[in-house]
Amino acid sequence: MSQLKLLLFLSLQLTALYAQTPNKLTYEQARQAVLSAEEQLMTGGRIELRSDEAKVDDLFMQYKLGELAQGYRNADQNAAAMHFFKAKPLIDRSTVFKFLQQMPKGAVLHVHNTAAVSSRWVVQTLSYMTGLLRCTNAQGQSRLSFRRAPREHGCTSQYVAVADERRNSLDPSVYDENFERLINLYTPVPEIEYPTITSVWDRFQNMFDALTDAIYYLPAYRAYHWQLLEELYNDNVMYAELRISFREIYDASGRTFPRMQVLQELQAINDKFVRLHPSFVGIKIIFAVWRGSGIDKIRELVQEFIKLQKAYPNFVVGFDLVGQEDKGKPLFEYISVLQDLPPGMRFFHAGETNWYSASADINLLDALLLNTTRIGHGFALAKHPLLMNAVKTRQIAVEINPISNQVLHLVQDLRNHPAAQYLALDVPIVICSDDPGFWNAKGLSYDFYYVIMSMAPNNMGLRVLKSLVFNSVRYSALTELEQQRAYQLLEKNWQRFIDNVLQGSVF
Ligand SMILES: *[C@@H]1O[C@H](CO)[C@@H](O)[C@H](O)[C@H]1NC(C)=O
Ligand SMILES: [Zn+2]
Repeated sequence: MSQLKLLLFLSLQLTALYAQTPNKLTYEQARQAVLSAEEQLMTGGRIELRSDEAKVDDLFMQYKLGELAQGYRNADQNAAAMHFFKAKPLIDRSTVFKFLQQMPKGAVLHVHNTAAVSSRWVVQTLSYMTGLLRCTNAQGQSRLSFRRAPREHGCTSQYVAVADERRNSLDPSVYDENFERLINLYTPVPEIEYPTITSVWDRFQNMFDALTDAIYYLPAYRAYHWQLLEELYNDNVMYAELRISFREIYDASGRTFPRMQVLQELQAINDKFVRLHPSFVGIKIIFAVWRGSGIDKIRELVQEFIKLQKAYPNFVVGFDLVGQEDKGKPLFEYISVLQDLPPGMRFFHAGETNWYSASADINLLDALLLNTTRIGHGFALAKHPLLMNAVKTRQIAVEINPISNQVLHLVQDLRNHPAAQYLALDVPIVICSDDPGFWNAKGLSYDFYYVIMSMAPNNMGLRVLKSLVFNSVRYSALTELEQQRAYQLLEKNWQRFIDNVLQGSVF
């Protein structure tokens, strides 16, 4: 029997039968064999590290185990088990985190444009742009816009200029802090402020409603998306597939630009950014439509998507439905229109729920029957053995958003996130950030921190990280040729990173 076959045999039979194995193992040998078998079967378990990578792994593991040990000794230092809002100061000081920031992370395949940029930048730059207005609706919620004739915001108050409010405030820095709260879920006591999924989702949805119209002002749109790329690039992310909302842009004169021109803008921003940063591969677009819309609206948007996709075949690559799944309409209600989407262009959110067999959970089944290319979240997938099997054999990557799932209340302690199981079973996953700007994150490194510290086994390091990084290119919508180039770049950056670690410039 080959070593792996023997391990598999053992892991199937487990220890009761170990004595009957051909090699007559001792109890200790059998025990060790099962542990090794599990390690080999998991994501990254079969990667052979080169000798320089193995040295880096040893260094990394020293730090990882050191930080975990600190967490065992002291619960209030145990970032891996803590809510991100409480853990962030610890993570910012962590050596593991510093390593992850420097590590090339490949692609981020699930991120929503209007919540991707750090709230700090929005306050410091976007809110200082000339002409920004604010009003409040009947519930006292703020809405931001640059439109001269603000409309359809449901505001009951007059619009006021943000610049005037700030000038008239007692302390502009306090004004800015309050402004940032409009677009950031941070609170020192999330368990008290957001007792339920619905309470946090209401506030979260409200942040999109507060900010989105301001972003679609042409000068803001350009600056915002440039910053989005900067933040990814600075975090060593090389490529992104952005879920973008489907809207028109407007300018200072009140002119509006149809979606075709929005794409032209995005493409121009992307081209310029890639020209200035040759090691950045760029972005592609997944059109995201609100899942609460009626079927006629979605039919119309699917048809428009098809038109836009034909005009930008290598830029617009997918279609998705967004919004709280527990509340929105299930995929099943839209089957007749979603079937019109070209094959290979379906990237559905599915199973972002704690419920078992509710419609949001069954979305997983419909996403698979609709031949989705990847699954957004797939949080509930572990409850469906047949679906999990299909995902594995059809190599449909699950887009895991650790901090999002925690902040939006699906799981408190990320060691209990189902992705730990997906790693163990080698279900294809990619690590994503979802809406980092709305919860004080930036780029992708914070999410990677939880993956390696909370979800992966304590004793696993670089092999898991490397497979996840390379998976992000493998499961992307890049064409085969683009993928080859992305792999080459990634290999090069990866090697440089390994060299840097060994030269002592990372730790
Ligand atoms: C999914 O793909 C299979 C195999 O290509 C095809 O037979 C089926 O019609 C597709 N389903 C949908 C809903 O597009
Ligand atoms: Zn999402």
